[in-house]
Amino acid sequence: MRSLRTDELRQLYLDFFKSKGHTVIPSASLIPENDPTVLFTTAGMHPLVPYLMGEKHPSGTRLTDVQKCVRTGDIDEVGDSSHCTFFEMLGNWSLGDYFKQESIAWSWEFLTSEEWLGIDKDRLYFTCFEGDKDAPRDTVAHDRWVEMGVDPSHIFYLKKKHNWWGPAGMTGPCGPDTEIFYDTGKEKCSPYCNPACSCGKYLEIWNNVFMEYNKLGEGKFEPLSQKNVDTGMGLDRTVATLQGVESVYDTDAFTEILAAISRLSGKNYKDSAETVKAFRIIADHIRCATFILGDHRGVTPSNVDQGYILRRLIRRAIRYAMQLEMPQDSLKEVANAVIEKYGKFYTELVENSEKITAELSREELRFQKTLKNGIREFERIKTTFADNKIDGASAFRLYDTFGFPIEFTLEMATENGLTVDVEGFHAAFEEHQKKSQAGASQRFKGGLADTGEATARLHTATHLMQAALRKVLGNGVAQRGSNITEERLRFDFSFERKMTKEEIEETEKLVNEAIQADVPIICEELPIDEARASGAIGLFGDKYGERVKVYTMGEYSKEICGGPHASRTGELGTFKIKKEEASSAGVRRIKAVLIK
Ligand code: SER
Repeated sequence: MRSLRTDELRQLYLDFFKSKGHTVIPSASLIPENDPTVLFTTAGMHPLVPYLMGEKHPSGTRLTDVQKCVRTGDIDEVGDSSHCTFFEMLGNWSLGDYFKQESIAWSWEFLTSEEWLGIDKDRLYFTCFEGDKDAPRDTVAHDRWVEMGVDPSHIFYLKKKHNWWGPAGMTGPCGPDTEIFYDTGKEKCSPYCNPACSCGKYLEIWNNVFMEYNKLGEGKFEPLSQKNVDTGMGLDRTVATLQGVESVYDTDAFTEILAAISRLSGKNYKDSAETVKAFRIIADHIRCATFILGDHRGVTPSNVDQGYILRRLIRRAIRYAMQLEMPQDSLKEVANAVIEKYGKFYTELVENSEKITAELSREELRFQKTLKNGIREFERIKTTFADNKIDGASAFRLYDTFGFPIEFTLEMATENGLTVDVEGFHAAFEEHQKKSQAGASQRFKGGLADTGEATARLHTATHLMQAALRKVLGNGVAQRGSNITEERLRFDFSFERKMTKEEIEETEKLVNEAIQADVPIICEELPIDEARASGAIGLFGDKYGERVKVYTMGEYSKEICGGPHASRTGELGTFKIKKEEASSAGVRRIKAVLIK
């Protein structure tokens, strides 16, 4: 088995699939465009959903990439050996091109051939879908592994819970998968231990999904118009396997990041169980925060949506930095280590490095202030508790409103001769989580694939508005972010000051003129250079593939974009700007609607 570094595996994977006729496409933004149902890109397939549903991709039917992803469901688990909020997913796709035979043969070749990873065949285990009322048992995948030379005792048929992937939201493309595991050589935890077991003996390294179904709102599965392959390999995790280390934190991905924390805190990563946990949390959260801040569609800390998750990540890292007695304003140094490690591949991190470090410093200052207020609040209420015991609701309020972790409250309590109702705190915490999960599932209600007509129309209006803003305010206007729901568009753009009433009215007028002209919306696929030469504007320096789609709306707008759009501008109704406000320094935000 070859021991590869993170950068090497990333490149090798892309090279392998290039040699199999795949086009390498760039990582999409971490913040999904025009998909209000999720906050972050959670898998490589996620930005490709329209193409898995049958839309033609400009780069062809065989694609490969490394996608930056964020999953925050397990944020409180970070600190153990395997959980991370940010990760990179290596993937290859067939969009109605090859299917199970080639997909399995290539996975086998990449993993086992000496020329590629050279993993010992006997260490590999496989799972396939056992079949149920929605889809048959996947004997095709099973038999293909056997043809590759896999001993049938290494293949397990499992239920949907294990061997079915997707959809990413409530509806959309999905299908049975076959998962590939590496046997770490640990003892079986029981005679029944198999790859589905979470004891750590078997490590999942790759997932090949055979996406041939579309899940509908009412829970039914219909065949997709084309059979696709979607695979995902966790980069850090596979590197850990190849480097023979137990945890992703022990791979080269984290070496310099952990070293920076060590330098700043004067402590060693492996000093104690506490330092291990604190180092990992700071390393993971600041890596993730750096990628969110540094993204082309990057956000800043706030109390809503992506900004709120970002704030939580930074503040949790600050608390652990305090525990390690790192000096104030240290996190930007940790971010610099992240930029150093990843900036060569993700050049946006270097381009945005000043923004990243400035925002981290700013958030740290704000948090110190909140903590001070919290301490004042603690002083105020500390004499008011029955039996000198801080009740659960108050401990939770200190946590939720003032950012006190329970450990912090316990410490303050001990210093003041008080105790804390820890169980009551956890009960209040769970109650709160239930409520916010209910909120989150509301968010997913529409489903990822459900980009309805209303959102398509608002998306078209966004193009017309950007063109109008450039006419009214000058060509310095460039998109900084876009978010569209069924009800409204939200558009962030670079501009230094508040718009005047006249400028807003002029923008509305220009957009409505374009709508009244009722011009057709024409989509062409062009090589990127030709697209730029034609005068198409691109989304704020986003990275594109070789070929791109250009949407032209008469004389009014020409923009590189993935769609979807209305077919004529006349379908839009009347355009109205509802709000114009500051989003962050040098960035304005407009919310606008279409009235039928
Ligand atoms: N979509 C699948 C996953 O996320 C394979 O890429 O695991």
